[in-house]
Amino acid sequence: MRPITRKDFVNLINKGLMVTGMAAIAGPVVAFFFPSNLEETPSEPVLVCKVDELPPGESKTINYGRYPALVINTPDGLRAFSAVCTHFACIVKWVAEEGKIYCPCHDGYFDPQDGRVLAGPPPTGLPVIPVNVVDNEIFIGGEA
Ligand code: FES
Repeated sequence: MRPITRKDFVNLINKGLMVTGMAAIAGPVVAFFFPSNLEETPSEPVLVCKVDELPPGESKTINYGRYPALVINTPDGLRAFSAVCTHFACIVKWVAEEGKIYCPCHDGYFDPQDGRVLAGPPPTGLPVIPVNVVDNEIFIGGEA
């Protein structure tokens, strides 16, 4: 077996970079022509968790169709919203200490009761998702 020369090593690195570059270009093209078959908004209710797995003051971010949803156990009950900020689509999060939904990208704040904008640049509130509890399990969306 012949030893690997410097030229062999450089050629191997070049081929690796070429394959990586082609994959980086091909991935989005394939995704465009063969989009995910996930629904934009699920037509059926989506299970979040059991009621005791979401104690007061806590939140969960779950997959909801193509986008994440934020489910919060607020002092006034369970609330769910699209977790995609209406400004530039960053993912929002629940800040229990402040009692607000926060977008870290540009300091946007939303009301956990109805999703309306409290501060920052978001042009509109977060879309509300209906919440239902059935048999001690929390569901969002659809009609449970
Ligand atoms: S993306 Fe959320 S405030 Fe800008």
